[in-house]
Amino acid sequence: MNMGIHSRSESSHTPVAIVGAGPAGLMLSHLLHLQGVESVVIEKQSREEVETTVRAGILEQGTINLLRKTGVGERLDREAEIDEGISISIAGESHRIDFAKYTGKHVAVYPQHEVLIDLIAKRLSDSGEVWFNTEVTSIEDHESDNPKVHYRTADGSESVLSADYVVGADGSNSLTRKLITGEDGRRMKHEYPFAWFGMMVHAPQTAPELIYATHPEGFALISTRSESVQRYYLQCNPNDTPGMWPDERIWEQLHLRADSDSVIVSEGEITDKAVLRFRSAVTDPMQRGRLFIAGDAAHTVPPTGAKGLNLAMADICALAPGLVQAVKKSQSSLLSTYTERALPRVWKTQHFSYWMSSMLHSVPAEDELTSAFHTNRRLAELSTVVSSDAGRQLLAQQYVVWDFPAI
Ligand code: DHB
Repeated sequence: MNMGIHSRSESSHTPVAIVGAGPAGLMLSHLLHLQGVESVVIEKQSREEVETTVRAGILEQGTINLLRKTGVGERLDREAEIDEGISISIAGESHRIDFAKYTGKHVAVYPQHEVLIDLIAKRLSDSGEVWFNTEVTSIEDHESDNPKVHYRTADGSESVLSADYVVGADGSNSLTRKLITGEDGRRMKHEYPFAWFGMMVHAPQTAPELIYATHPEGFALISTRSESVQRYYLQCNPNDTPGMWPDERIWEQLHLRADSDSVIVSEGEITDKAVLRFRSAVTDPMQRGRLFIAGDAAHTVPPTGAKGLNLAMADICALAPGLVQAVKKSQSSLLSTYTERALPRVWKTQHFSYWMSSMLHSVPAEDELTSAFHTNRRLAELSTVVSSDAGRQLLAQQYVVWDFPAI
């Protein structure tokens, strides 16, 4: 079987070297291939790790369209749950945000690792080069016409891949980003005083649509993976560890925060417990010389609203046509404006993720009256949103339906 481990000696040069086989890196390699531009994707994890790591699971309409249009939407169309709304639960009172009514569109519940499985299968069946278990150790000469990517394989041997262009799609602990921010690049950041405790639960579905629940005890999210596996999250302290969340505490808090008149959170065996930190960060510019960064390497959004993968895909739609023009026609006009074209959407997404996060989570303050002020103001904001058509539409549009750059 083709495991994507190709003879590297044959590939000492590539038009586009891509660091990272996540959504951004794999989709970029796929889009370039469709336009006749070859690339090499270098990934430090094994194929199995990439295909099994638990991440978020919501695809907005632009991502669904992109996967379909480029021939990787078949399994998604067969297996994904299509959701035409979400429920916002405020201390047990449920408010539906009807995506179909306000946008005419929907989202798909299809976990990130399933998207990666589909993209990897497609890249390999198209004879694409995806080098797993291979770590990029440094990048040189990215401000010249001939950047070089130094890498180390699993057996410890080191080699160099020369490229016309290098794209860093290597996630939030990006090595490539440091080559951009190291000098005068800017990385703007925000930390949140809360986190999520995420878990998988082997139980029947709690409800037909996702529930975003806010409660004086904190936030809870009821999502799904299949008819028998559910994905739940509870607001927790950023310094919490899984050991602080025994099953009894989890069930008590999930029921308290997310049960309502019509819904009781379904219980089962809990696996994959982990704490997810909340961060916002944006790098500007997203390019230097012949090095470009995309997805989490360039920006991080907090998880509320599950925008990370969708934003990565939108970056790639902004980047791919510029790379095609540069490689095939030696023209860099489109590529040189990548940051300007990508950043407006990055900031809108930052805003949406920040807005959803701050509107739904309770934030402890030093004293009781300050806490009460912030809680009541926050609940008034949420009530303003869920109780008017204009508010519900604003939320629905941002959750579902931003246009993607044309590819
Ligand atoms: C999921 C994660 C999210 O952050 C979200 O807003 C919705 C769903 C998920 O993992 O299913």
